[in-house]
Amino acid sequence: MDARETLRRYLEQRRDMGERELVLDDLSVDDVMRMLGASAGAVTADPPASPRAASSPNASSDIRTTDAPPDTADWRSVLRSVDAEAAPRAPRAADTPAPPPRTVSEPDEPAATPPANAEEELVPTADAPLGIIVGSTLRETAHGPLSHLTSLDDVARAVAACTLCELCKSARNPVPGDGSPTARLVCVGEAPGESEDATGRPFVGRAGQLLTKILAAIQLTREEVFICNVLKHRPPGNRNPTPDEIAACSPYLIRQLELIRPSVILAFGAFAAQTLLDSRQAIGKLRGFEHRYHGIPLVVTYHPAALLRNPNWKRPAWDDVKLARRILDSAANA
Ligand code: URA
Repeated sequence: MDARETLRRYLEQRRDMGERELVLDDLSVDDVMRMLGASAGAVTADPPASPRAASSPNASSDIRTTDAPPDTADWRSVLRSVDAEAAPRAPRAADTPAPPPRTVSEPDEPAATPPANAEEELVPTADAPLGIIVGSTLRETAHGPLSHLTSLDDVARAVAACTLCELCKSARNPVPGDGSPTARLVCVGEAPGESEDATGRPFVGRAGQLLTKILAAIQLTREEVFICNVLKHRPPGNRNPTPDEIAACSPYLIRQLELIRPSVILAFGAFAAQTLLDSRQAIGKLRGFEHRYHGIPLVVTYHPAALLRNPNWKRPAWDDVKLARRILDSAANA
């Protein structure tokens, strides 16, 4: 069959499945290049902020080639290439439960917490259903215990001096987080790993390199966002955080979020999601919703380290990241 015809059929099939954007998750870039009769050049999908229909019968109009290396524009192509090298790694976040929930509504049900102002109708910012509502539906201060820390630098200094759990003894460096104090997006991971412990900076290892590319795919740089973790010191051997460590450390995260007050929080992995949402639900149940954390939209997705291990999660993770982007865009236009 003619390559273009094959591609046209593929796109029709995806459209019939209800897809609006071109996400070549099952076809490799090389496959598509071959179908198009091209022999060289990287293929990138459209930037997610300006989604395009994937329904055009003229398939080549939905794909563009670029001279840029594939890893600068499309993190999915990066994922494909890192898969090949992905080393097995001790499981971390997966489905380990976090501390017991406070008052929240779970996403399987409609949001149960009534709006603080009866006049106010709580509607999702983007096109995902509302999930768990933590705190008031209005943007508010979470009223954590660290209100005396009045800047992110204060938080970092307090983290550096912290002895509330044993992790400070084994860690080489505190990793409070870094990025813009006026970030519109805050990325929250689980805990520093070896590279982060060595440098004092979050997400600088392989998972961090992937995070940088995920951000680039939604037109954000690391400098524009704020990146941090639930735990600010590395658990030895990258073991899972314990409930006591999370309880001791999460006030720093809460204070960081109070100070930054971003437009969107992107929670990577079960520990970040369960801690911020006070939920014990598995990540697969928490993703796909627009949750609210003290009025701030919160999107849950798979941890970049998990994406390196499990290619099946690439597609849903990409959907989650695009949801975060849409929420950012609508917040900017509000
Ligand atoms: N994994 C995390 O959760 N955070 C980091 O900073 C690095 C890896």
